[in-house]
Amino acid sequence: MSEAKRNPAARTPASTQSEMTEIILPNDTNILGNLLGGRLMHFIDLTGAMAAYRHARTHVVTAAMDHIDFIRPVHLGDLLTLKSSVNRAFSSSMEVGVKVWAENTRTGEVAHVASAYLVFVAIDERGRLVKVPELRPETPDEQRRYADALRRREHREAESARRKAERQETAGREP
Ligand SMILES: CC(C)(COP(=O)(O)OP(=O)(O)OC[C@H]1O[C@@H](n2cnc3c(N)ncnc32)[C@H](O)[C@@H]1OP(=O)(O)O)[C@@H](O)C(=O)NCCC(=O)NCCS
Repeated sequence: MSEAKRNPAARTPASTQSEMTEIILPNDTNILGNLLGGRLMHFIDLTGAMAAYRHARTHVVTAAMDHIDFIRPVHLGDLLTLKSSVNRAFSSSMEVGVKVWAENTRTGEVAHVASAYLVFVAIDERGRLVKVPELRPETPDEQRRYADALRRREHREAESARRKAERQETAGREP
């Protein structure tokens, strides 16, 4: 990564906050009228990317999406609200947290339905890594997420190394 590819001005988590609201339509659901898991992951990816773009101010790609707990179903006609912000910036990568709520439009009841952590990597128009600005957490919640993001990165790296070793061990075997 050359000095020319640095993008140094520090930013705050608040400056990356992003939000998206969707109404759940028949095309988004399974035959029981519940939101499809893959569709929810798509919305999570998009909302996460918005925060990453606001931090990096360059192209970003999704490098990883940590496991997602689908806490409760989302129904046809619900309003889905997704909120995201960058938890921590590393060198070219950023961890983004996304939280999702569903609102029943008739009763007004709002429930937390899913949360996820994603890693986005900043690249230029030729696909080369770009250094992202420093992220400076300000509030106690932002500082907690900042600290937790480092632990999750260490866990991801260990898991990735374990999977790589497993692939090498099983390469060449019958499926
Ligand atoms: C993500 C990608 C750009 C990383 O490129 P790479 O040459 O493997 O880069 P490196 O190994 O040097 O890692 C670069 C950064 O990405 C991070 N990274 C790479 N793979 C990762 C993974 N699986 N999970 C989390 N972070 C990852 C590294 O930790 C590193 O972060 P840092 O610079 O902040 O320390 C590349 O793997 C890629 O293009 N993947 C496909 C992305 C894609 O198509 N996404 C879906 C559509 S947007």
